[in-house]
Amino acid sequence: MYKVTLKVRNQQFEYNCTPDQTPLRAARNEFIPIPTGCQRGGCGMCKMKVLEGEYEQELVRSHEALSDEELANGFALACCMTVKSDLGIITAEDYESQLKKASLEEK
Ligand code: FES
Repeated sequence: MYKVTLKVRNQQFEYNCTPDQTPLRAARNEFIPIPTGCQRGGCGMCKMKVLEGEYEQELVRSHEALSDEELANGFALACCMTVKSDLGIITAEDYESQLKKASLEEK
């Protein structure tokens, strides 16, 4: 059993995830508001930036949902991944708005 820390819409949630569950399924079981769409790797709504931890991303996915470049840069689809250690993830949307905010603060 691993602990997942999820940041979504400026909130943080912690929940447990077993190695045979996806972080998306485990969050939904706990009624945590994780963005969800197709649940089959096709829409990209569940795209996360992995902040820390080990995971395995299923390679069968739509490249529109998750490009090879995103995959290489630590993005993953919460509906198509399995957790191999405690994990920290943030939605791609929250991650981008954090980056924007940080670059505005630098100016
Ligand atoms: S819910 Fe559609 S790609 Fe994960």
